[in-house]
Amino acid sequence: MTDILRTHALTRTFGGLVALRDIDLAVREGTIHAVIGPNGSGKTTLFNVISGVYRPTAGRVEFLGRDTGGLPPETLADRGLGRTFQNSRLFTSMTVLESVLVVLYRRGFALRVGASARRRAHEILDFVGLSDEANAACASLPQGKRRLLEIAKVLALDPKLVLLDEPHGGLNHAETARLIATIRSMHGKGLTVLLIEHEMDVVMQLADEITVLNFGQQLAHGEPADIQHNEAVVEAYLGSAGEAAIAPPQPAATAEERLLDVRGLTVRFGDIEAVRGIDLHVAPGEIVSVLGNNGAGKSTTLKAISRLLPAGGEVSFAGTDLRQKRTEHLVGLGMALVPERRRLFGAMSVLDNLRVGAYGRPAAEIQEVMEEVLDLFPSLRRLSGLLAASLSGGEQQMLAIGRALMSRPRLLMLDEPSLGLAPMLVDQVFAKLADINSRGTAVLLVEQNARMALAASHRAYVLASGRVVAEGDARKLAEDESVKNAYLGIAA
Ligand SMILES: Nc1ncnc2c1ncn2[C@@H]1O[C@H](COP(=O)(O)OP(=O)(O)OP(=O)(O)O)[C@@H](O)[C@H]1O
Ligand SMILES: [Mg+2]
Repeated sequence: MTDILRTHALTRTFGGLVALRDIDLAVREGTIHAVIGPNGSGKTTLFNVISGVYRPTAGRVEFLGRDTGGLPPETLADRGLGRTFQNSRLFTSMTVLESVLVVLYRRGFALRVGASARRRAHEILDFVGLSDEANAACASLPQGKRRLLEIAKVLALDPKLVLLDEPHGGLNHAETARLIATIRSMHGKGLTVLLIEHEMDVVMQLADEITVLNFGQQLAHGEPADIQHNEAVVEAYLGSAGEAAIAPPQPAATAEERLLDVRGLTVRFGDIEAVRGIDLHVAPGEIVSVLGNNGAGKSTTLKAISRLLPAGGEVSFAGTDLRQKRTEHLVGLGMALVPERRRLFGAMSVLDNLRVGAYGRPAAEIQEVMEEVLDLFPSLRRLSGLLAASLSGGEQQMLAIGRALMSRPRLLMLDEPSLGLAPMLVDQVFAKLADINSRGTAVLLVEQNARMALAASHRAYVLASGRVVAEGDARKLAEDESVKNAYLGIAA
């Protein structure tokens, strides 16, 4: 079997930071090859250099036996190298069908033969399972379908090699199964796939070979079974992941009192009622999770509570009516949010982003909390002078969580804290939540990973179509077969 892609001593630096050092990667034609490694280990940078987004600082890339010698992404795409990005880049004003057609047209496919372009676009949508959504607006697609659309757009390039950067981020159980099936059938059609993925279940189900990066260098390479038990990989990346390392929280102080009290919450987007009368509360000292499929209304609920969206109903925090408050008042009241899209200040340094989180606090206290946050996420210490915009996906997630912790909130609200984090770090973040909770901070958590969230929570609410369909003790919900099957996608 020949190698479709090779890198030779590939190196890329950013200022003093060596993001990749001497990488020799060989991807055999017709295989699914996974690249894994801690946050900031250079995975996305590797994709950027291979696909021509960045030039190598040293070394070279060979695709289909030819040196790519600094060719731009469009030229490489014409030669058969397609890729998706870690953060979705969709034209939100278009329909699903249109956004695939755009790619076909750009390839010069068919300004002449419009009908055949449409036929091809429908074929591709059918292949990834988006036929029913062909005429839907991209903006209205839930996360899982956006991922599939990204893949559809790459397939429209008719590629030989596809680079997928964390395609599974933010997907629920059913969507993950669909994604895996789609990648398998791409493979079945002879495509070679190079895949970055943190979810080891997914990697193990798909990969023929795995390359592990750590601090920009190759830590290991081999077959999945070997990598899973490789001591260096376990130590640097996997931790005890998958072995239920999450400790259940200590019992909450009291369930009677209400720190956060939400009654009859409603949110409309035009004609669509995304949240239809939700009652929810968090007692002081509680960890409460909000679960449910994509599109169930979880993030919308959190945004409405945080006044990021106009909403009907009543929301109060520690006795204060929040309806008259703006988002920026909430920190002063003791609420902090880690929002869905992180909302970092990209043009500010890591340290300054953290300082913003503690705005208005005494200097001595800021220093103390800063040390705590930097101890929790040691990589942020290393990156403290960098602009937030240049951080890797997982590093940005750490910064967003760190910034929220900086205000020492009474209630910490998090939207998908595990998204984009390496397995070991997910364990650490959940351990940290239990830790700050034991010191008195209440937590309201939105999570796709229901199993993990239930293990880490006192109570939970399950949403479907904008309503609460189940609620109660987290342990009991975790054992409730009907809830698990219908709403959480957790196999028994
Ligand atoms: N344009 C840039 N300028 C400065 N530093 C950068 C730039 N791009 C990436 N880096 C740094 O290079 C390192 C590698 O980043 P990269 O995005 O490749 O990591 P990753 O392995 O994809 O991580 P993650 O799993 O978190 O997505 C990080 O420390 C990051 O901060
Ligand atoms: Mg990345």
